Amino acid sequence: MPLILVHREEPIAVVQLNRPEALNALSPALMQELVAALESLDGDPKIRAIVLTGSEKSFAAGADIKEMASLTAAEIKKENPLAVWDRVAAVKKPLIAAVSGFALGGGCELSMMCDIIIASETAKFGQLEINLGIIPGAGGTQRLTHAIGKSKAMEWILSGNIYSAEEALKAGLVSKVTPAAEYLNEAKKLALKIAEKSPIALAAAKKAILASLDSPLTEGLQRERELFYQLFDTEDQKEGMQAFMEKRKPCFKGS
Ligand code: CAA
Repeated sequence: MPLILVHREEPIAVVQLNRPEALNALSPALMQELVAALESLDGDPKIRAIVLTGSEKSFAAGADIKEMASLTAAEIKKENPLAVWDRVAAVKKPLIAAVSGFALGGGCELSMMCDIIIASETAKFGQLEINLGIIPGAGGTQRLTHAIGKSKAMEWILSGNIYSAEEALKAGLVSKVTPAAEYLNEAKKLALKIAEKSPIALAAAKKAILASLDSPLTEGLQRERELFYQLFDTEDQKEGMQAFMEKRKPCFKGS
């Protein structure tokens, strides 16, 4: 059984984690398949935005505890199972997490590697690693702190508590909470809306926003300015501005 299912609905694609018997625990094999699927879609000009989802019961219950339980520090460092996870965050196209059920530990971290999180009212978020005698290892201490601020991130990570979708919304981790039956449709609707825009401008916007997370303000502003000016060499910029002046809808070709 494939660990990842890809549903193409051009111009978007839905990538689904498919390991229900383990609540979509993120084993190294699953992560390899996930990255292969995402990178293939990232390079496919017919796809302009990607939705990442799990099942109704579980987005993902974390990294696979059983596969790492017996490892020593030297062994896990040598295997470096988390290195492949970085490639999710390196996807250039807009990536929307549609979360229902558990998004715990590495599952919460995976959702935070996406650009936008849409959550079902059933979603449960948390960084539970502290309960296992470890800490988040796939970006949780950094991305959660950026998303919800230091005091709340400390509370989440040090307590190992589970938080509701409403609490995650209030904290600023997710951008929208929907009724249980609607989360995937809502994420697809947003992906379709985004897919109408210029793919070059989308990639530039994503790059500039992510630059704000790891550079001082002055550098981030400079990066934004460079990207802004670069877009004036694209046909999409000419088309976008021409369409505005002609009072019609633009047709972006990605060139
Ligand atoms: N790794 C491996 N297997 C997991 C798993 C995980 N993270 N989460 C769930 N499973 C497996 C269970 O072992 C169980 O399998 P078996 O039937 O073979 O025993 C199956 O999924 C169903 O799970 P439960 O019976 O536990 O289901 P539940 O509904 O009673 O509880 C849950 C659900 C609260 C999510 C519970 O499964 C749980 O606490 N899971 C672990 C969550 C966690 O601690 N995640 C952090 C992992 S470490 C990490 O992610 C490190 C990092 O930063 C990268």
